[in-house]
Amino acid sequence: MNFEFTEEQLMIQQAARDYAQRELIKDVLERDAKAEFPADHIRNIAGLGFMGMMVDPKYDGSGMDTISYVLAMEELSKIDASVSVIVSVNNSLVCYGLEKFGTEEQKQKYLRPLASGKKIGAFLLSEPEAGSDATSQRTLAEDKGDYYLVNGTKNWITNANSASTYILIAQTHPDKKHKGINALIVDKDTPGISLGPHEDKMGMRSSDTHSVMFTDVKIPKANRIGDDGFGFKFAMQALEAGRIGIASQALGLASGALERSIAYSKERKAFGTIIANHQSVAFKLAEMAVKVENARNLCLKAAWLKDNHLSFGIASAMAKQYAADIAMEVTTEAVQIHGGYGYVKEYHVERLMREAKLTQIYEGTSEIQKIVISRDLLK
Ligand code: CAA
Repeated sequence: MNFEFTEEQLMIQQAARDYAQRELIKDVLERDAKAEFPADHIRNIAGLGFMGMMVDPKYDGSGMDTISYVLAMEELSKIDASVSVIVSVNNSLVCYGLEKFGTEEQKQKYLRPLASGKKIGAFLLSEPEAGSDATSQRTLAEDKGDYYLVNGTKNWITNANSASTYILIAQTHPDKKHKGINALIVDKDTPGISLGPHEDKMGMRSSDTHSVMFTDVKIPKANRIGDDGFGFKFAMQALEAGRIGIASQALGLASGALERSIAYSKERKAFGTIIANHQSVAFKLAEMAVKVENARNLCLKAAWLKDNHLSFGIASAMAKQYAADIAMEVTTEAVQIHGGYGYVKEYHVERLMREAKLTQIYEGTSEIQKIVISRDLLK
């Protein structure tokens, strides 16, 4: 096993770290307070090649590997998980699925602008009554010959307003259950699409999340990804890749909280010495560091499997479940170490804790990851 990163991977990590520590940090608190979409940052991050990191350069991607993606996601998420979720959804739910399963025509038309970051993508799977239970899709995409007629509502859609391109999962043959589901590429400005209000979230407040309503929306058949009925398997495979992104985001939230806790405990004095000299704090730091390192190794293992074209679905579920759960634990401990200062916004750790909570919920709750892992163990 080689635990060394290549020079290129280290350069990508450094570029993400520099951008996060120099630029994202400047206005992250203000954007969190105002729930303001980070449009300028996303443009700059696209300029670094981070919106289509793993896409082949022939489709205007950066041709980087998934290990580099994990490293960049960790660095961005240490400072601003609202930015990193936009990056993650675009890279590993939208671009990955399009590049793997799209036709050449679909890739030329839709993947190129998404991979270069000229446009942003969103992934529309969740519904009011189909969150974890993703097979129960109610949004209908009726087959009308050369087009689908779509009616229904999607919930909790990251990038709903900022995206130009949607990947929509919808039911065409309800009698066939999950085998009747299709994945369709949708231009957001197609007539009949409307958005619900901006969701006022607990964390990741500056990423835009809305419901999306479809009323008699016509989608050309040429926009279907894969064969008729492939949509559920498409969604599951996109999520396998997506979970590496969100696991890395959770890792970044945890490692960011750990770094802040180390720095604070070397400055803050109590009982005549810096608090790092108290074992009650030092042991917490040690335990947090072990969890962070375990999460990092799980993320990198899933990425390595993907880069080597090996099955990575179980590894990505393990990385997502573990990293999300320890992100919640580590950020909570970080608030504890910071005491009263941890409970106010200026010290950032209360925001990291709010953001960590979402990693246990979206792209499959921690319980969903345990279903995926345990089914594999017991099959
Ligand atoms: N790859 C390929 N096929 C897969 C698969 C995978 N990873 N997982 C399942 N399938 C196939 C199965 O083989 C099965 O096919 P057959 O009938 O042909 O055998 C079919 O899909 C149905 O599978 P299951 O019987 O396992 O389905 P299930 O109803 O038990 O559900 C589940 C499985 C894992 C719970 C799934 O529903 C799931 O992952 N739910 C969570 C959904 C989720 O993550 N939502 C997040 C929304 S996206 C988001 O949050 C993005 C954002 O904006 C940040």
